[in-house]
Amino acid sequence: MIVPGSSSQLLAAALAEETGRPLATATYDRFPDGERLAAVPEFDGREAVVVATTDSDEAWVELLQLQDAVREAGAEHVTTVIPYMGYARQDESFGEGQPVSARAMAQAIGTGTDRVVLINPHEPAVGEFYPVPVEAVDAASVLAAPLSALRDPLFLAPDQGAVEIAATVRDAYGSGETDHFEKHRDRETGAVDLTPSDAAVAGRDVVVVDDIVATGSTMSEAVDVLTDRGAERVVAVCVHPVLVGNATTKLRAAGVDRIVGTDTVERGCSVVSVAPALAEALATDALAGEG
Ligand code: R5P
Repeated sequence: MIVPGSSSQLLAAALAEETGRPLATATYDRFPDGERLAAVPEFDGREAVVVATTDSDEAWVELLQLQDAVREAGAEHVTTVIPYMGYARQDESFGEGQPVSARAMAQAIGTGTDRVVLINPHEPAVGEFYPVPVEAVDAASVLAAPLSALRDPLFLAPDQGAVEIAATVRDAYGSGETDHFEKHRDRETGAVDLTPSDAAVAGRDVVVVDDIVATGSTMSEAVDVLTDRGAERVVAVCVHPVLVGNATTKLRAAGVDRIVGTDTVERGCSVVSVAPALAEALATDALAGEG
């Protein structure tokens, strides 16, 4: 059965449809003291695929509970799909006395599962923190589908780290150039400073592609530079539209034409699904626990 975390209900349903597997109805409750209780009252099966984006601390707790609940209900094999893995950007200790948070989360989750599937993790190396086999699925090519009739398009990565993902979206779109900016982020304030390339953007449609839009600082800074330079339309595209706080407003204020994301984080702009890419990954023998 496919078991949804509360933040991934639409994606889990899409995955159930895509794979033909039954969808479990999970429940998400709270006790008066604030403690959570996620459960799967009618779980029935030998194999569970728990699908849960961990974009909040609550979601991590819920995921641990769902993993344990399906074992308790008789699952012999558990696959954990984390469409968007929170804490993945804390993949090293950035200062004295700081934890490697991604490792701590991975080790906790790893105790309740046989396998993990991640979608476009910020750094693929984060998979090495899990004590079980991990597959990282690259679903970025789906982001090209909602883009149509772009004028002389430029696919732009706002920093070096997004160069590959921008190329993937460009290739899936089928035409256009690629380029990237350089980024510096002040760790104290979170402020982003971009050094633009000298690409000519006037009169062109520019698609800015990143893996994550969180506070929107990176993306809005890029949109701002591009609109200043006369880009015709600027479309913001990302795999994980986390969009915390006022991120959407910042993007609109900077002049973005459209925000496009996937359903790894379920938001209004999640117009394409990673379910087909996930279904393909789950179809492999190794992931189905049949190997
Ligand atoms: C960082 O390297 C990532 O690729 C994204 O650029 C970053 O996580 C976006 O964060 P924010 O939206 O807070 O600027």
